[in-house]
Amino acid sequence: MLLEKRSIQDVDVGGKKILMRVDFNVPLDEGRVRDDSRIRAALPTIEMLLSKGAKLALASHLGRPKGKHSPDLMMDPVAARLSEILSKQVHKLGVAVGPEVKEAVSKLKDGELLLLENLRFDKGEEENDPSYARLLAEPFDLFVNDAFGTAHRAHASTVGVASYLPALAGLLMKKEIEELSTCLENPRRPLTAILGGAKVSDKINVIRRFLNLADTLLVGGGMANTFLAAEGYNLGASFYEKDQLEEANALLKESKSSSCNIVLPIDLAVTKDLKPGSHSEVVTPDKIKGEWQAVDIGPETAAIFSGYIEESAVVVWNGPLGVYEVPPFDNGTEVVAQIIAQSSAYSVIGGGDLVAALKALELSDYISFISTGGGATLEFWEGKELPGISVLQNKAG
Ligand code: 3PG
Repeated sequence: MLLEKRSIQDVDVGGKKILMRVDFNVPLDEGRVRDDSRIRAALPTIEMLLSKGAKLALASHLGRPKGKHSPDLMMDPVAARLSEILSKQVHKLGVAVGPEVKEAVSKLKDGELLLLENLRFDKGEEENDPSYARLLAEPFDLFVNDAFGTAHRAHASTVGVASYLPALAGLLMKKEIEELSTCLENPRRPLTAILGGAKVSDKINVIRRFLNLADTLLVGGGMANTFLAAEGYNLGASFYEKDQLEEANALLKESKSSSCNIVLPIDLAVTKDLKPGSHSEVVTPDKIKGEWQAVDIGPETAAIFSGYIEESAVVVWNGPLGVYEVPPFDNGTEVVAQIIAQSSAYSVIGGGDLVAALKALELSDYISFISTGGGATLEFWEGKELPGISVLQNKAG
């Protein structure tokens, strides 16, 4: 069980200079933020700190600039969006460390904030270089980590700074830990886990964990193909991981001796041409021929999945069930999303693709909790210790 972390609710933050790590790694479109969910998710922490009179500097990475200054990954679009949301101008600095930051932070009044430049413009960030971490920490009294989505990275701004500043959890970090633990510690039952996405290899550990935790594991997406191939089906031109057949077989065997049942698709949408709107048919897994490839779960599978969901007390889901970005092969994912939204089950969903899908379907409000994490959520469910959480102070006691 995770030790409870000290949070901003446990200390007096008034007048303190605070470095707050956020995960504002948001999708951009022609210089504008396309989806501001991650920015909005950090608002409770930002607003609470400002209302208590903290002097706040927000810091995030954006994309993967690999230690180099990249004009298209500067934080300006994020500053613009945050200014709109907060209805006040958020000043963005041109750097993340050094005298310019020190001076700007020293000029902040109680309840004011600014935004630092992309942390990953310096290679010290991803290398967790102690001298970069020390520079980052220098102008501040406290470090607050609200970047759950980056908590699986041991970088200077998630781990290194905690050697130089008292490190506290933000409200989003706290909520993510609590909500994602719903399925890990004494879950209400039946607990149904749904896993999709392309690869089994990305999710072996989380599959294994759910075999020990869940009552049912529903599998879709490309990873279902690998399980079906392991069962001996010839899947035509479908994508599957040939080098994971042994592992998939081992997992199927393990499910037989565990109390968690793995449920694979019994019908699939197949196409010869993976393009939007292309012709498709629905077939059973033994009927996929030659150039045809499986690209979505079929309607009977969706109905079976729905039956499990309707009976569940808790549903957790990561990864789309078909090639979501190429309609109509988003159908299975959409049907299952609708069923979850209508069900009375407590639902917890993680991963960028699914979160975008739920938003597009206007179903986000009907999901109990949507995680801001992708890789971080999976690693949390695997039971790994996330370095960005480990370094936060534990509550005394
Ligand atoms: C994410 O989008 O999952 C986080 O912001 C982490 O980004 P990264 O995979 O580039 O470290």
